[in-house]
Amino acid sequence: PLLLIAIAIGSYLLGSIPFGVVITKAMGLGDVRAIGSGNIGATNVLRTGNKAAALATLLLDAGKGAVAVLIARAVAGEDAAQVAALMSFLGHLFPVWLGFKGGKGVATFLGTLLALAWPIGLACCATWLVMLAVTRISSASALVASAIAALYLWLWGPQSLIALAVVLAALVWVRHAANIARLVSGTEPKVGRKKP
Ligand code: G3P
Repeated sequence: PLLLIAIAIGSYLLGSIPFGVVITKAMGLGDVRAIGSGNIGATNVLRTGNKAAALATLLLDAGKGAVAVLIARAVAGEDAAQVAALMSFLGHLFPVWLGFKGGKGVATFLGTLLALAWPIGLACCATWLVMLAVTRISSASALVASAIAALYLWLWGPQSLIALAVVLAALVWVRHAANIARLVSGTEPKVGRKKP
C-alpha cells in the first residue's frame, strides 16, 4: 500500500506539470491562460500562433501520462499502472501548481491510454486525427476520441481498462462543458482561427 500511495502521489505531481503554461512562458509567448479559451492545452497554445509550442505541449502533456503509467507498471504492476493513469490525469485537471485550475485532459488521457494498451491508444489517436481532419474542431474531435475509447476496449480489450476509460472520458466531457455549449450554438472555433 505504501508503494501504491507513493505511485499515486508521484503520478499526480507529474500530471500536475502544466506544460502549456511552462512552454509558452519559456518561449516568451505570454500566459496561455490569458488568450483564446483560456485553457492550458495544446489547442489553445496553438492560438498563440506558434505551432512548435503547441506540438511540444501536446507531446509533453501526453508524455507525462505515459511516463507515469510506465513507471508504475515497472515497479508495481498493472493495477498500479491504472492508478498512475488516473492520478496523472487528475494532476493535469487539478494541478497543485496552478491553484488546482488545470486543463481538459485530452492529451494526458491519450498518453496514458497509449502506455496502458497501445493499440487502443493508437486507435483513439487515429480517431481524433480523422475527426480533426473532417471537422477542423479540436474539442469535437477530443469528445469523440475520448468517448470511443471504452467501445474500442469492449471490442478489442483489455476489458479490465473499460471502467477507467469511462471515468476519464466522463471527466473529459465535464471539462468541455463550455466547448459543448459552443458546439451546440455553432460558435466553436476551428483550428487555425484566432478567437473561440
Ligand atoms: O484539449 C482541449 C481541446 O479539446 C479544446 O481546447 O482551447 O478549444 O477549449 P480549447
